[in-house]
Amino acid sequence: MLPPIAIGDICPIGVFDSGIGGLSVLREIHQLLPHESLIYVGDSAHAPYGDRSASHVRKRSRLIAEFLLDQGVKAIVIACNTATAEAAELLRGTLDVPIIGLEPAIKPAARLSKSGIIGVLATQRTISSSRLLGLTERYAKGKKVLAQACPGLVEQVEACEFQSEETEQLLRHYIQPLLDQGADALILGCTHYPFLLPAIRKITGSEIDILETGKPVAEQLQRILKQNQLEKIIPGTAATFYHPDLRFFNSSHDKKYHNAMKKLWHDPLENEIQILDL
Ligand code: DGL
Repeated sequence: MLPPIAIGDICPIGVFDSGIGGLSVLREIHQLLPHESLIYVGDSAHAPYGDRSASHVRKRSRLIAEFLLDQGVKAIVIACNTATAEAAELLRGTLDVPIIGLEPAIKPAARLSKSGIIGVLATQRTISSSRLLGLTERYAKGKKVLAQACPGLVEQVEACEFQSEETEQLLRHYIQPLLDQGADALILGCTHYPFLLPAIRKITGSEIDILETGKPVAEQLQRILKQNQLEKIIPGTAATFYHPDLRFFNSSHDKKYHNAMKKLWHDPLENEIQILDL
């Protein structure tokens, strides 16, 4: 009899965001855990979350998490700062699988900053969340944290306007005052913003530290899978030719979001993006 190709827990991992920004987290997960099957949901029909009410974000997060559970996922990654701030506790309290959230990188930024002045770019909802306040109090005592809400940036990313004049103007408007006040560490507190990194670097130059959360979240997911014995293991030589199952959903019928997802996910998508009517 042939040995099994995969052992351990072969169920997929669910990952979701308000739209396409969570792909910046998904790519890190796929890189670190290349054998794990992944299901990604972008909620573009109901984005941006950052300008909506907390109850809207909680309701959408719950519906998407329930859909992912119906698909048999073994863990859920909330690849969205806004949804983590508003819904992570709710999901942890009601669902039976590990829920991995993400949060602005205040702790490493506080360690890296020499001026003691840290800039945070995030959505309005994340900026006004008690979670950000709690992180600041816990990890950035004695530092100055300049929290900047960035309305409009998520829409620019969803429209694939990564380097347009309008995007650069918005970025300069949000970032320049932080630099003028002496910030030498800049946190990208929204998963859409890493796609704007080249445009952001044009404004900041190469001197300041820019922190995002995709990689640390992938590492945290790996730790949690190990702790719970949920890893998928591909033994021996099978690993070189094994392809995991990757499935992509979007709640919008508008093809422009589907095309944006394809553009940002550089590997060819074997399956078309499926519409998720929730
Ligand atoms: N990408 C999301 C985040 O990390 C939310 C963007 C939005 O929909 O406002 O906060």
